[in-house]
Parts: sequence; C-alpha cells; structure tokens
Amino acid sequence: MSDARPVRNVALIGFMGVGKSTVGSMVAGILNFEFMDTDRVLEERSGRRIADIFAKEGEAAFRGMESDLVRELEQADRKVISTGGGLPMTPGNLESLRKHAYVVCLWASVETIYQRVRHQTHRPLLNTPDPTATIRDLLQVRGPVYRQADLLLGVDYRSPNESARLIASAFRQISGQESRHVER
Ligand code: S3P
Repeated sequence: MSDARPVRNVALIGFMGVGKSTVGSMVAGILNFEFMDTDRVLEERSGRRIADIFAKEGEAAFRGMESDLVRELEQADRKVISTGGGLPMTPGNLESLRKHAYVVCLWASVETIYQRVRHQTHRPLLNTPDPTATIRDLLQVRGPVYRQADLLLGVDYRSPNESARLIASAFRQISGQESRHVER
C-alpha cells in the first residue's frame, strides 16, 4: 500500500512500559531530531506529576491536556514524540499525529510489560490489585487502535538500540515515500 503522507516527525505509541521514551530518545539521536515526551511536557506545564494530575483533577482532565498538546504538535518539525500509552485512545488524537508523523507502535506481550512495570508506582492506571489482568484488559481494548500505526514493532526480543535503528531507517525510507511497512 502506498502512503504519500508528508511525514516530518516520528511519533511513538504503545502501552506503558514498552520503552517508548528510551527508544524515542535513541531515534532522535540517530536522526538528529529533537526528542519530546508528552507526559514530561504535561508535567512541566502543570507543575505536577502525572499521578497527581490523575488524583487531583481526574483522568478526563489529563486526557483533555493530552489532546490540546496533540493539536499543538501539528506544527512540529523534526521531532521524535513519545506519547503516553492512552493518548491514541482519545478520538482524533491518532488522526492528528498521522497528519505530520510517521507513527510507530512498540508492541510487547503482557508478561514483558508486567516485568517492566512491576516495581514502578508512578502509573496510576496500573496501581490495581491485579496489574497483569489490568494490562491484559487494557491491551485488549487498545490493541485495535495501536495496530493502526504505520509500523508495528515487537520489542519482546529487541534491544532498545535495535528498535531505534529499525525505526530510524524505516522513517528515512517513508519520508522518501517508500511503501507501508510492518515488522513483527
Ligand atoms: C497512561 C500511560 C502513561 C501516562 C498515564 C496514562 C496510559 O504514560 O500517560 O499514566 O493510559 O496508558 P506511559 O505510557 O509513558 O507510561
């Protein structure tokens, strides 16, 4: 399938804990683009941690802040944008990213995600009695949206470095208007 979108940026989507920020900053280094992480931008703007925003203002307010930022990013150029795991679920956000960015989803199994997040406490949605079940349930709902990415990259058996190199080279191809590409 040919994809003639003029992409200037790279956007990383995918579940919590798959390594979007780590891989994204490496992709930015390879392409000599600026790296940004939507969660960090929202924390800086609000002066609060994500968990505090969820606790004090609620998830809906956080999703509104995310969507406002996504609209601003339509002006972005030469950026690698790492997104919060729920960002593409808000209607309109994925479509907005696709206007200017090559959208890459990092995909990992429930077990890999659980192993990566189990000692972390800063993700309010995973502070549940059974995080594995929560991950499985959320992935079930989010999977169909994540799979709309231009590139779906499995990271269970790839190092961040390898993932970053693959993404950078896929971006270089597509920004030279190569065809759609799926790597598992
Ligand atoms: C969320 C993912 C988090 C953060 C918030 C909600 C989600 O970002 O935006 O806790 O809904 O999946 P990471 O994917 O960077 O952990």
